[in-house]
Amino acid sequence: MHLNDGSKITEEQIEELNANGPYSMAIWKSGDISVGNEEGLAGRSEYFLNLIRESILKNYTMDEIKNFSILDIGCNDGWVLHQLSDLPFAKMVGIEPRAKNIEKGRTVRKILKLENSVEYRVGDIESLQGEVFDIVICAGVLYHVESIPLALRKVRESCRHMLFIESRCISSNYITQELKDEIEMRDLVYQFEDEICGVTAQKYESAYYDGSAAHNTIVNVPTTESLVMNLNILGFDNIDIVADADTYRRDVWKDKRPLGGVCISATLPDEPKTLESEEDNWINEYEIGLENEVLPRSLLEPLYKFFCLQDSEVKFSGGLKTIHDYLTMADNLPSIDKSVLPDSNNGKFALEIVKNWRYSPYDKIALEYGKLLKHEGVLDEAIKVLKSVTTNKINSDWRSVYRAFHLLSLIYQDQKNEKESNKYRELCMKSNYKFPVKHG
Ligand SMILES: C[S@@+](CC[C@H](N)C(=O)[O-])C[C@H]1O[C@@H](n2cnc3c(N)ncnc32)[C@H](O)[C@@H]1O
Repeated sequence: MHLNDGSKITEEQIEELNANGPYSMAIWKSGDISVGNEEGLAGRSEYFLNLIRESILKNYTMDEIKNFSILDIGCNDGWVLHQLSDLPFAKMVGIEPRAKNIEKGRTVRKILKLENSVEYRVGDIESLQGEVFDIVICAGVLYHVESIPLALRKVRESCRHMLFIESRCISSNYITQELKDEIEMRDLVYQFEDEICGVTAQKYESAYYDGSAAHNTIVNVPTTESLVMNLNILGFDNIDIVADADTYRRDVWKDKRPLGGVCISATLPDEPKTLESEEDNWINEYEIGLENEVLPRSLLEPLYKFFCLQDSEVKFSGGLKTIHDYLTMADNLPSIDKSVLPDSNNGKFALEIVKNWRYSPYDKIALEYGKLLKHEGVLDEAIKVLKSVTTNKINSDWRSVYRAFHLLSLIYQDQKNEKESNKYRELCMKSNYKFPVKHG
């Protein structure tokens, strides 16, 4: 049993290594000596280490790396950064909540005569504060924390350019159509983002084992989608799934363990867009888009007569009948798609408007009819219809009310009635202070 320099390891050193164990995350090597028994994790750390190295070298030149700092969160005995210390980083820091794990690394490097210039500190992901690193690694940690979103916020604050995540994950097969229907993915955001959602599983976890949660708690095992969504709202782009669950299972677990795993690299653009920073743009585009979408008279008039003027003689056929049934049937709803619209030239928001009629059809259809009259230049009639939304009853549909206020304000502006125009603009802003009022 010889080290790199030819010297022999003593029995005392073997006892010290055994006392410091378990070295269960990776294998430290020198000469013909290996310290590490990965047991069920065999091959994992080598595997994702290669992916980290590839992701770094794909995104950055050696000259850039020379000026870069790198942080490894939950670094355990520090093996990952030790392996990366051949790259010319200006600063390398590993943080780990268990002092014992840091000591474990120090001992093995001392006995195997391995050196690096990494700074290992005691600390956890939740207490990251202030210090920013060009590259951040977060491997094997997210499924040991109480809150993945909060942990990732901390990671985001500590990251300047690139993040690499390795995590256990649950199968995306849990994301079924039934689940999607049940959680109703109808938010404004979905007008602008992919139709993505995630699932996270919870389980108890004690802090007994060196590689587990830092405190006895409930931890979360995410789907890949949950991680991608979190990275997306934190402003990361180039979110690259460098090993998906199937690849990971095939390459690492080889069906020895029933685990899913995922590796993701993501970068931050110079001016990251976040959910908060995008909200104004989305509201703007959505509200202006809806306002500019004027549905045809052939669609609106019969529905207005039936729902708003209570004319039960109106007869519906074709697409109109489907819409009528959709609005009046309690269950077994017909599906609504573009084919129900009479005019195939309808814009992006036409179907969105019609689908939303299901709740409060009176207010919503009257709003659209008032908008059509405004568009046709029949302004006095438009005012009458729009005011039926805002004055006829208490508890009118909120969205129809602030949109009607806005249209009334525009009509009065056209009629040079500044007083009424201002009044309705103020009512619009009172009703929805985020409404993108552009006139006045
Ligand atoms: C499965 S091990 C992974 C170690 C190493 N990063 C790797 O991937 O091989 C999980 C590590 O995360 C640490 N850990 C647990 N909770 C943590 C937290 N809240 N913040 C940072 N690290 C944590 C554990 O002490 C342990 O060293």
